[in-house]
Amino acid sequence: MYVLGIETSCDETGVAIYHSEHGLSSHKLYSQVDMHSDYGGVVPELASRDHIRKLVPLIKQCLAESQLTSSAINGIAYTAGPGLMGALLVGAATARSLAWSWQVPALAVHHMEGHLLAPMLEENPPQFPFIALLISGGHTLLVQVEGIGHYQLLGESLDDAAGEAFDKTAKLLGLGYPGGPKLSALAEQGIAKIKFPRPMTDRPGLDFSFSGLKTFTMNIFNASEKTEQNKADIAASFQEAVADTLSIKCKRALQQTGLKRLVVAGGVSANKQIRASLAQMVDKENAQLYFPRLEFCTDNGAMIAYAGCQRLMAGQQQGLEIYARPRWPISELS
Ligand code: KG4
Ligand code: ZN
Repeated sequence: MYVLGIETSCDETGVAIYHSEHGLSSHKLYSQVDMHSDYGGVVPELASRDHIRKLVPLIKQCLAESQLTSSAINGIAYTAGPGLMGALLVGAATARSLAWSWQVPALAVHHMEGHLLAPMLEENPPQFPFIALLISGGHTLLVQVEGIGHYQLLGESLDDAAGEAFDKTAKLLGLGYPGGPKLSALAEQGIAKIKFPRPMTDRPGLDFSFSGLKTFTMNIFNASEKTEQNKADIAASFQEAVADTLSIKCKRALQQTGLKRLVVAGGVSANKQIRASLAQMVDKENAQLYFPRLEFCTDNGAMIAYAGCQRLMAGQQQGLEIYARPRWPISELS
């Protein structure tokens, strides 16, 4: 079964074609980063308009690269949420319309389920059950995964998501948008010598809180001399605090559940230090760590095509409605 995947939930237009037995046959991504960087963040209306411009050409490119015509496509999966309403509607309306004209099913996919399943596209995919740490611009979730659609939320951020904390801290340091990769590049020039807190690690539970780290950074930054080295040291110390905090909570989740597999996905999982810190922890726990390849950590169409394909093969069906849900708790999935 060939499934076309469409991702337009935020500032990336992602398209891919996945085959249930032969795997990924093509994927294309257009990032709007350059356009939004003039404004210091994502401008929703501009995002929607750009998705309209890019989506159909990317679909045509994917079909051409896979050497397929539309008649080979057996289903279309699209990100229906969570995300920006206008941006979601572009993907949803396009997917639903193509599905209607090609006479194939269309399926609404949860963006975070896409991230969660992204490591399944790799050569050595994790077996169920596992713990998933999903760290993106909008979410920080610890989930116990028994199988596709069987997700038990163990913990989440009570305020800023991990990516949001990176983005806001980067802005504060004058690094611009997108903040995560910029802050992490600066951190490589610095030494993590400032003692940042590890929020909510001194009490039981698996929830996170990252907004305090941003305030802590602001206070340190305001009190320090504004040299490049000081900025790099602050970035390194902030990054180490996030990496440590995530590791402590993941270790706790592994120990509490007795599971030995940890999957880490979402845009922030592209961060080298977070990867290294989790790898070290997992090693000590005699567990295994799974990541998507770097280009599938951030938003992409391949993860949506994969998730949709699994659900279509399991017999899931949907009506003709155009489904878009900006807020959609992962715990409501089944
Ligand atoms: O998954 P994603 O592409 O979009 C959402 O679903 O939100 O994640 C985007 C987030 C942004 O906050 C971005 O700053 C962060 O991932 N990010 C990073 C890195 N690359 C992307 N954060 C830290 N280090 C990185 N290398
Ligand atoms: Zn995402």
